[in-house]
Amino acid sequence: MITEATKQRFAREVAKYPADQKQSAVMACLSIVQQEQGWVSAESEAVIAEYLGMPQIAVHEVTTFYNMYNQQPVGKYKLAVCTNLPCQLRRGQDALHHLEKKLGISMGETTADGLFTLQQCECLGACADAPVMLVNDRNMCSFMDDDKLDQMVDGLRAAEGKQ
Ligand code: FES
Repeated sequence: MITEATKQRFAREVAKYPADQKQSAVMACLSIVQQEQGWVSAESEAVIAEYLGMPQIAVHEVTTFYNMYNQQPVGKYKLAVCTNLPCQLRRGQDALHHLEKKLGISMGETTADGLFTLQQCECLGACADAPVMLVNDRNMCSFMDDDKLDQMVDGLRAAEGKQ
């Protein structure tokens, strides 16, 4: 459900564009919904479409074009490992496989305790730092060898009291 407080956040984004181009705020509105709800539902897309005066399918096209938008609920920590070619040449795929083993899930899945969702992602613009990953769409992690991956997962589990 989209609250009035959320719509006020939408309004701040819309105000950044000319009055006849408020649809330009669609990505920002989708990001706000995802920050607040963890994912973007069809119902949220409908509210955004109505708010911005654009067809719902046009909002859905944006949601599905960018892999940063979650189209279903995800775990508390979304781990997105870059597997584009430059990173593949520097152990990006190995990092993804290591996390699959460590977490006991396959890419695209969420752990049974709801803590982790594992995804692969497109280039994060930090190819020289491979393996690289993004945690919860915001925190970039570089040079993620197996030891650092273990430390990160163990640290997050410990922080959640799930050691
Ligand atoms: S290919 Fe992975 S960050 Fe560029």
